[in-house]
Amino acid sequence: MKGVVLAGGTGSRLFPLTRVTNKHLLPVGRYPMIYHPLLRLRRAGVTDIVLVTSPEHMGDVVNLLGSGSRLGIDLTYRVQDEPGGIAQALGLCETFVGNDPFVVVLGDNILGEDLTAHVAAFEAQTAAGGGARVLLKEVHDPERYGVPEFQGDRIVRVIEKPSVPPSSYSVVGIYFYEPGVFDFIRTLSPSQRGELEISDVSNRYAQAGTLTHGVLQSWWGDAGTFEGLEEANRLARDLVYEEHPGVADA
Ligand code: G1P
Repeated sequence: MKGVVLAGGTGSRLFPLTRVTNKHLLPVGRYPMIYHPLLRLRRAGVTDIVLVTSPEHMGDVVNLLGSGSRLGIDLTYRVQDEPGGIAQALGLCETFVGNDPFVVVLGDNILGEDLTAHVAAFEAQTAAGGGARVLLKEVHDPERYGVPEFQGDRIVRVIEKPSVPPSSYSVVGIYFYEPGVFDFIRTLSPSQRGELEISDVSNRYAQAGTLTHGVLQSWWGDAGTFEGLEEANRLARDLVYEEHPGVADA
């Protein structure tokens, strides 16, 4: 399975922290934020990874990560010229993905859990016909995220930042797709905030009846806001990846 890490955007919710640096290079625990999704993918056996970021920050990101060999991964880069949303950034990865199923991790998502079982679940789903899979976490503030609406056990819709959340779950920033997702992305229109929304991609699969989900067992954080960044730092304070033991390894 291939991996996609999306690290574009202006980080405007974190201004002025992000005025001259990319959000994904800010510290979370002992690592630059972007190490977390990359090392989670690596631990799950996903080492062929494309990273998307903005032209302003590509230089710094490549300075930090290079070919990826220090982290035990093989990195390819794509530039998102304008911040047009997560689904637009994903659309840039079509030729990298080719005919393989893949997993997407948003660069500001930090999690306390190994992804291996979730990767295996999507490999089984791929063998059984494909579709997409999202991961959920029960949260106290679902209105900050994409929120699933259920009928029985099935997600029938994902609503992006709803004022009245239909459940107490967040769709976290980890998504599994068949390569056919790029045909869905081409049919999307920008949302009210002018972006191609990842929740609209989930909705295409929900309508087709091929959206499955798993639930995270451990902690999860979205470090894209001041509140989220502080929370992610608290949660990841003592997190050390054996694959890259942080400062001691510098
Ligand atoms: C994005 C997605 C949202 C998802 C969240 C998870 O929101 O649009 O559906 O729940 O990531 O981190 P953002 O953090 O870009 O506002």
